[in-house]
Amino acid sequence: MPMTPGTEELGELEQLAIEAATEAGRFIVDERPAQLGVAETKSSATDVVTVMDQQAEQMLRRRITAARPRDAIVGEEAAATDGSSGITWLVDPIDGTVNYLYGIPAYCVSVAAVTGDASVPGGWRPVAGAVFNPSTGEVFHARLGGGACLHGGRGTPPEGLPVAVSGVTTLGQALTGTGFGYLPEVRARQGAVAAALLPHVRDLRRAGSAALDLCAVASGHLDAYFESGLNPWDLAAGWLVAAEAGALVTGLRSAGPAAEMTVAAGPGVHGELVQRLEGLIPAP
Ligand code: IPD
Ligand code: CA
Repeated sequence: MPMTPGTEELGELEQLAIEAATEAGRFIVDERPAQLGVAETKSSATDVVTVMDQQAEQMLRRRITAARPRDAIVGEEAAATDGSSGITWLVDPIDGTVNYLYGIPAYCVSVAAVTGDASVPGGWRPVAGAVFNPSTGEVFHARLGGGACLHGGRGTPPEGLPVAVSGVTTLGQALTGTGFGYLPEVRARQGAVAAALLPHVRDLRRAGSAALDLCAVASGHLDAYFESGLNPWDLAAGWLVAAEAGALVTGLRSAGPAAEMTVAAGPGVHGELVQRLEGLIPAP
């Protein structure tokens, strides 16, 4: 396993993640053009990129490179840049781009520092990160071993609040989030799994931002979350926030969280949800 940064460096990484995510999040709201169009599409016609995704990613890259020029950066909208420090930043300039396009206030900027090889599924882990929702002013942040914390937003004291997962102990009582990819054939499979799971959970939610879903598990606004097909930048910061808030964050069949599957839930329901999903999704 790669070296974990020391306590002081972890604090610096967390602070930089908070500052970069907050700056980019304010930018996408303040500078949103009146006529926001789709700049390009990616994997399918519904997988959109706006000019604000592109500009916010450049802003994140400039901020991180200015503070830590030896770190690598992998983002959703531009080519990866190599580094030599052992730290890679995984950045999603707008997670929940479709919500952003439609003006639904459930999108965020996700910024995480990770160790290991970010190009290898299971080969990296987050050590610091922040998820900023500019519509609510909430920033969820964490560093390895430091707990998860919420700053900003209505009713949050200036010193912030520690966040913790819910104590639900049966899957039938678990409000469960999920999400869907952009490819029709992938969605058909994901929809079948969701339909089969629905009778066994309190209800399902599809909010439209994986990073916010993971933070919702962290703060108890969801009891559980699962999704297949996530990219490292969707997952990295929210994974750490959820884990530091007491969630178990895994894949299926003892794998770590990755594109194949990510399951995040409090210890009271994680095992039951994994078991159900393993019964519904054949081993690769
Ligand atoms: C998407 C969102 C969505 C999830 C998709 C992601 P994007 O990211 O997180 O909730 O279901 O799997 O791709 O495209 O908005 O950055
Ligand atoms: Ca994303």
